[in-house]
Amino acid sequence: MYRSHTCGELTLSNVQQEVTLSGWVQTIRKFGSITFVDLRDRYGLTQLLFGENLNGQLDQQPLGREFVLQVKGKVAERSNKNPQLPTGEIEILVESFTILNKSAVPPFTIQDDTDGGEDLRMKYRYLDLRRNAVKKNLQLRYQVGRSVRNYLHEQSFMDIETPFLIKSTPEGARDFIVPSRMNEGEFYALPQSPQTFKQLLMISGYDRYYQIVKCFRDEDLRADRQPEFTQIDCEMSFVEQEDVLKMFEGLIRRVFKDVLSKEYTEEIIRISWEEAMWRFGNDKPDIRFGMELANLKFPAHTFPEKEPVTGIFEDVDFKVFNEAETVVAMAVPGANSYTRKEIDELTAWVKRPQIGMMGLVYVKCQEDGSFKSSVDKFYDATRLQKIAEATGAKPGDLILILAGKEERTRKAISELRLEMGKRLGLRKSDEYKLLWVLDFPLFEYASEENRWVARHHPFTSPKPSDIEHMISNDPTISDPERYLEHPYANIKANAYDMVLNGNEIGGGSIRIFQRELQEKMFAALGMDEKEQQEKFGFLLGAFQYGAPPHGGLAFGFDRLCALLGGSESIRDFIAFPKNNSGRDVMIDAPASVDQKQLDELGLALSPNQQ
Ligand code: AMO
Repeated sequence: MYRSHTCGELTLSNVQQEVTLSGWVQTIRKFGSITFVDLRDRYGLTQLLFGENLNGQLDQQPLGREFVLQVKGKVAERSNKNPQLPTGEIEILVESFTILNKSAVPPFTIQDDTDGGEDLRMKYRYLDLRRNAVKKNLQLRYQVGRSVRNYLHEQSFMDIETPFLIKSTPEGARDFIVPSRMNEGEFYALPQSPQTFKQLLMISGYDRYYQIVKCFRDEDLRADRQPEFTQIDCEMSFVEQEDVLKMFEGLIRRVFKDVLSKEYTEEIIRISWEEAMWRFGNDKPDIRFGMELANLKFPAHTFPEKEPVTGIFEDVDFKVFNEAETVVAMAVPGANSYTRKEIDELTAWVKRPQIGMMGLVYVKCQEDGSFKSSVDKFYDATRLQKIAEATGAKPGDLILILAGKEERTRKAISELRLEMGKRLGLRKSDEYKLLWVLDFPLFEYASEENRWVARHHPFTSPKPSDIEHMISNDPTISDPERYLEHPYANIKANAYDMVLNGNEIGGGSIRIFQRELQEKMFAALGMDEKEQQEKFGFLLGAFQYGAPPHGGLAFGFDRLCALLGGSESIRDFIAFPKNNSGRDVMIDAPASVDQKQLDELGLALSPNQQ
């Protein structure tokens, strides 16, 4: 028997018991003739005391960090207690020990505040995974998974596996492809999601499906993106949008309760995509703080139902605002004390290529009700007052204003809002705010190809009131500069995203389930009949055999776990993640393959890759 207990469970109630423990040597401290060792396993740490009688054996068989050790001994009360540890009131008086395996000196110290940099830790990920910080994350991931499975099981969802070697499913990224040896010259694609399969399962009558499943997308990586990641993928039949939203509000509340022991009792607010863009400049707004946007000027067709603010720009010769498509402002609470230097630094921040603005205009709202502004030689106090009113600024606030092309400016102010929220400490990682963003546009303009692409995916249904609109208008974009004015830009989808603290944690839609409408959709995306048949003949065919109305969504499992763990980096919540270049530096993948393998597949590398 290797062990009678784990290293995390012995307490004062076990004093005097004879026990056997096995684990890894975390630390060794020698005090005169006695030696203390902290022994670690997945469950915790236990202090071992080696008395003078074992010194001879310790000299012959010295211990080292990360050695695998088995000890037998008696549990004793400790004189020097450690209240931080569950086992901190006891120690084991070691009677005998066996070194089960030695360890080379680890390349970094395996403790919470390690000296190992990211690259080193990733190369030796199996050692990194021994650290508490990483272990805690994996435990949280496991708990989220269990909570999700329990909830979905109780709601009659069935976990059904779908294949990985498939044909392309368009989710907006590039596919990873796999050559087929048995079908030379042909390729499988790895699924970007199980989208078409879960729809087929609805047609087969499995009206509530789920899967915690790997998805593969060859896209540029960021902190919240991995080339292979995991979704909680769900689909339901005979549902309207409201049914889906309710079901998954239930799921997320359950996860909060099970994992964080927190009741998320607040209403999960719902706002339209248009409202989100108008108020926050962003389709995944962080609503933990205010600083909502004041749209001082905007192209009328972008927000057809909104009125511009009047009485600010008229008859003033300030080109930056006059020539801009969009002028948008926000009030930063209490930031009136920002120095010249700090404002210069913020200006440089918005001018960085990632943000791409030409400059930043500010208005300081002084305590006495007056204004100090970088544009006060153009705009008098009455006009500045109008800006202050539009932003809701109070004395002591700092108003920041950006101007330029609509899309870029909106994106920039949204980034600036998040940055200011961060600087003011308003984005607390232990505060959670959920919301639904609804009514997304059905299409998105792909400028490189001058055509429409599906914003979510091509199986998402248009709003019933927009179907006619879609069918009767030609998708051709005659003037790429003015694509926002094309009728397709305003067609809305039955699509929804769940947003947590400014991150999209899930997204889905009510699907098209009639063959004719699906064909129209494919045609709108520029697919002729032949291409439709080649790519999605199976789905169009299945729609002919009694497809029920259906819809669903998928949560980003890694993202959800990271956010619940107070982080925005999903890598920390994946046991064996890839780095930013898509490499696994531990196993050194991707790697080249033998010529024999290439020959079997009928593949040849181009000369510069050989
Ligand atoms: P979507 O593409 O929105 O929808 O993906 C669902 C959720 O998956 C997460 N996610 C990612 N997480 C990590 N790395 C990535 N590269 C990555 N890409 C996406 C996000 C996102 O909200 N089939 C549809 C779902 C549906 O319509 O039912 C789909 O895949 O959190």
